Amino acid sequence: MAGESQTYEIRVQRGGGAVSYSVVLAPRMTVLDALFIVQRTIDSTLAFRCACRVGMCGTCAVRINGRPGLACRTRPSELGRPAMDVAPLAHLPVIRDLVVSMEPFFAQWKRARPRFRPKQPEAAATAAIPPDSEFGLLAAGKRDCITCGVCFAACGVRTTSGEYLGPAAVNRALLRIADPRESGGPERLAVLNEERGGVWRCHTTFDCTEMCPKGIDLTDSIARLKRGLAARGRL
Ligand code: SF4
Ligand code: FES
Repeated sequence: MAGESQTYEIRVQRGGGAVSYSVVLAPRMTVLDALFIVQRTIDSTLAFRCACRVGMCGTCAVRINGRPGLACRTRPSELGRPAMDVAPLAHLPVIRDLVVSMEPFFAQWKRARPRFRPKQPEAAATAAIPPDSEFGLLAAGKRDCITCGVCFAACGVRTTSGEYLGPAAVNRALLRIADPRESGGPERLAVLNEERGGVWRCHTTFDCTEMCPKGIDLTDSIARLKRGLAARGRL
């Protein structure tokens, strides 16, 4: 009956195999709630990460039934079955249980030069961007990345290439390059244009866009940069 609690089997990948737990969840409870119940009532050694619990910080990303997503935004009641598999994000080294090192993600993020480099660094204030300007409209759909690593884990190219920047880093680079206040930099374009690590590696499978919890059209960001690079840096 709608609104009733239900028993779920949660199989958590730990070390070399999966460990199964039985938890009772109300319909609005999340995978993160289930992990807390396991940790507090069954096995206090279970390791996972979270902070905000409302989809803002990006730290709780895991694989749920094979798909990367935020544990705090995924309800077992909406997954369609009373059992679920929870595993650490792919393409990142496991520290323990569901906790991964984000180092490979941020190493690529840094390569894309994510920091804002103003054209006029000595100016007292940064110019405001009108929300209805070309860049204002672009940024509105691209700027909400919470660096959760979901797109990085979803990306098929990362399966075979440790050199690929990954969707989030490319998206951040686009935001910087398209910003009229930015001083740009040939180094960033050179990284994006790399044969093995740059945007040309993307096979346009849309997995990153489909799974991004912030709804960022990452495939569009990558395509814009491909077009821009093909037109010699015009975006
Ligand atoms: S682009 Fe989306 S999926 Fe990728 S890290 Fe940012 S919020 Fe997460
Ligand atoms: S705990 Fe912050 S996004 Fe899930």
